[in-house]
Amino acid sequence: MTVALECKGLWKLYEMGEETVQAVRGIDLQINQGEMVAIMGPSGCGKTTLLNMLSGIDDPSAGQVMVAGKPLFGISDDERTDMRGSQMGFVFQKFYLIEVLSSVENVEIPLMMQGISADDCRIQAMEALERVGLGDRGAHRPAELSGGQQQRVAIARSFVHKPAVILCDEPTGNLDGKTSDQIMELLCELNSQGATIVIVTHDVDVANKCSRIIEIIDGRILVEEE
Ligand SMILES: Nc1ncnc2c1ncn2[C@@H]1O[C@H](COP(=O)(O)OP(=O)(O)OP(=O)(O)O)[C@@H](O)[C@H]1O
Ligand SMILES: [Mg+2]
Repeated sequence: MTVALECKGLWKLYEMGEETVQAVRGIDLQINQGEMVAIMGPSGCGKTTLLNMLSGIDDPSAGQVMVAGKPLFGISDDERTDMRGSQMGFVFQKFYLIEVLSSVENVEIPLMMQGISADDCRIQAMEALERVGLGDRGAHRPAELSGGQQQRVAIARSFVHKPAVILCDEPTGNLDGKTSDQIMELLCELNSQGATIVIVTHDVDVANKCSRIIEIIDGRILVEEE
């Protein structure tokens, strides 16, 4: 088994005046290539904080994250940007689409970061939009889309560059049941084509489609169910 994503002794502390919030408290985790893993737990237990460290967005207070056996922290910002841009895709809880760009331009960003030609960026971004059912919304800006459509643009952006690992924070949180099922079908298909997928979710149906469920309580892993 090849380990796709791993963390060791991961901690995140937030200093809030006199108080310290221990958002993540010593998490060890190994996710193998080809796995599709759900991370569950009550609101505020540290799921987004954990995912943001696994994604290389937030620095851990202690510990390390390894992507395909290589450290994600303690390296230069440029090296981390390269690793993230070439090997990882992200779906954020709050979308983070760029408001002044159209849907297709938002989806093109990971391709542009790899130096792909403008024509190829457009073709591949449109294909990704079609896969999430938004082939007719390429020219719309985020404000001209529904919440669920914005999430689908964000999902298209996460896989357009064929990353080895896709990390999703509540990817179906804003979607109705039918659209949510379609997005899960798509994530399962990407997984069957080899992508390792990590999904933070409150939705039991979403978690049950994953090969493993990791339960977080108070910043720690509670139980792992196979
Ligand atoms: N930037 C920050 N500064 C201070 N405290 C923070 C910060 N971000 C998160 N926290 C705290 O860390 C804890 C974990 O937050 P986190 O966002 O990881 O929770 P979550 O499990 O993703 O919750 P939800 O299911 O509501 O999205 C919470 O108690 C939160 O208040
Ligand atoms: Mg969260």
